[in-house]
Amino acid sequence: MPSGQRVVLRHYPQGAMRASNFAIEDQVVLVPGDGEFLVRALYVSVDPMLRLFIDPAPLGGKMPPMPLGTTIPGPAVGEIVQSNHPEFSVGTIVEGRFGWQHHAVSNGAGVQRVNPKLGGPENALGIGGLPGFTAYVGLNVAGGVKSGQTFLVSGAAGAVGSAAGALIHARGGRVVGIAGGEAKCRYLVDQIGYDVAVDRHAPDFMEQLAKALPTGADVYFDNVGGPLLASVVPLLARGGLVLICGLMAQYQGDAESGVDHLPDVLRAVMFNSLRFQGFTQVGRDALRPAFEAELAELVASGRMKVAMHIEDGIERLPHAMAGLFDNSVTGKVVVRVGEISR
Ligand SMILES: NC(=O)c1ccc[n+]([C@@H]2O[C@H](COP(=O)([O-])OP(=O)(O)OC[C@H]3O[C@@H](n4cnc5c(N)ncnc54)[C@H](OP(=O)(O)O)[C@@H]3O)[C@@H](O)[C@H]2O)c1
Repeated sequence: MPSGQRVVLRHYPQGAMRASNFAIEDQVVLVPGDGEFLVRALYVSVDPMLRLFIDPAPLGGKMPPMPLGTTIPGPAVGEIVQSNHPEFSVGTIVEGRFGWQHHAVSNGAGVQRVNPKLGGPENALGIGGLPGFTAYVGLNVAGGVKSGQTFLVSGAAGAVGSAAGALIHARGGRVVGIAGGEAKCRYLVDQIGYDVAVDRHAPDFMEQLAKALPTGADVYFDNVGGPLLASVVPLLARGGLVLICGLMAQYQGDAESGVDHLPDVLRAVMFNSLRFQGFTQVGRDALRPAFEAELAELVASGRMKVAMHIEDGIERLPHAMAGLFDNSVTGKVVVRVGEISR
């Protein structure tokens, strides 16, 4: 008997991600065993890294591609509706890697109780979840936000970029964002607290960016890599830090992402004495309590107004994933697939 639906991989993407790469199937009834619980999903997250789990080839990954027919993995928020687990009771709202499906069984590994101080449950996939925590960890790796420092953020109107900008602003740093389009730039300045936002599609983009960084950027919080990285590194201040958070521009394996910009990057590294540092939020759970405390205060004071792009219905997940890669959306993308029962 079906108990809901799940989204599976139907075809491997050839270049751009398309909704037709996915199929929707009925889910059979799931029964939790001893030490397990059943979650009914409320919000499902749409993340760019999924592109690389599906097929790591664009970044030269060694992992085998995800088998066709696999339920798409990834974070979701849900309500526990049955439990044989001593520490997770029915009615608890939790976040975990429950995948793109209406129901999931879990033994509690990697599952977090949703903190109501961080806003609505959907926020546990945005500022209070993976993107917000990634921004927080990145700033921690960069050594915090020091007085007088200027940060430059790419993909600034995306989920991580919005959170990074809001945190830098709240901590008193100067922050310049790069986004695609005037509407996203307005959102960054009016809503998030970016000091300046520059449209990467503007014909005079590089001139505008240079003007916004009169003494250079001390830290480049890079979410995209690709040709933009090579264009931007000469605008860093001497001794500046390039913080590699993600390589969004290189995930689709298109012609642009295959161009070698290393000689240009190395020139800037040498002339400006730059440093490069990659990081991942994985394994940084010790930072979570401090992250949640800082965020709870910003949410309570109304200073954290990061956009959520919410679609409705599990059938929207494939379209939402394709939309993530055509850069048409602002903020964190989630799909609502259920309502809280109480
Ligand atoms: N290190 C970690 O632990 C960690 C954790 C989570 C995510 N990440 C990475 O962080 C990055 C951002 O994630 P997210 O969830 O914020 O993604 P997102 O919401 O989809 O935002 C990414 C943004 O990148 C920009 N972009 C896309 N292609 C581009 C290109 N070719 N050139 C320049 N800009 C481009 C787009 O903005 P515009 O069109 O507006 O410029 C897009 O909105 C991703 O690379 C992701 O893999 C890293």
